[in-house]
Amino acid sequence: MVSNTDTAPSEGASEDGTGQGPRHVAIIMDGNGRWAQSRGRPRLFGHHAGAKRVREIVECCPSLGIKYLTIFAFSTENWKRTQVEVAGLMSLFRRYISKEMKALAARNVRVRFIGDRVRLDAKLVQLMDQLEEETKGNDGTNLTIALNYGGRDEVARATKRLAQDVAAGKLSPDDVDEETLPKYLDTHVLPDPDLVIRTSGEARISNFLLWQSAYAEYEFIDTLWPDFTAEELGRLCRGYGARDRRFGAVKT
Ligand code: FPP
Repeated sequence: MVSNTDTAPSEGASEDGTGQGPRHVAIIMDGNGRWAQSRGRPRLFGHHAGAKRVREIVECCPSLGIKYLTIFAFSTENWKRTQVEVAGLMSLFRRYISKEMKALAARNVRVRFIGDRVRLDAKLVQLMDQLEEETKGNDGTNLTIALNYGGRDEVARATKRLAQDVAAGKLSPDDVDEETLPKYLDTHVLPDPDLVIRTSGEARISNFLLWQSAYAEYEFIDTLWPDFTAEELGRLCRGYGARDRRFGAVKT
């Protein structure tokens, strides 16, 4: 069975709506293509601008009290894009990891990747492993990058491993419940997101953190990802703090 000994508690979630900011923010970084096209540039130009934005947003997390930042970089559905765009994105991920490795380590950021690595090229997987390894001792911001990630795919892969444990006699079907299944998810060491943000005006979650976001608060904003700033994130965090999160309960 997957070890869950280092599962982070989720006390940062503002369960009583006391004005606390989000401890875990998850972002669907959308709008790179439109940002580039509105400037008469190719879509990849927008992805490069988007990658620069990632740095600014990671850097502002400590000052906003964000301990966990999870970003959606490439979905299981994004393979349907043109070969040129997919290859350009993969090359951008390789370059980003190589270039940012030292800075992330120096800024005390711990990086993890979620998603299925099977379809990713060997060089990229090697860099992902290396970045995880180099930053595993850091205890500042926890940056999780979803790469070839899909919520349904994650649940299917988790269920497969769980079924294998049942077949091997390591787990009883009677013990399968809401506590057990998440231990098999890619996110098993992370708390659930408190706030999910999607940029670019689309109001859908596109297969992102389906299980984990059951009680998240959502913000759908018009800003295109390359224009998203630390200031705007700060405003959304303050708005989150003012929300009344009841998790299905009634306030007495
Ligand atoms: C969605 O915008 C964005 C993506 C599919 C890629 C996200 C990647 C980045 C922000 C760049 C780099 C990330 C890292 C971690 C280095 P879109 O292309 O769907 O935009 P559109 O809806 O305007 O077409």
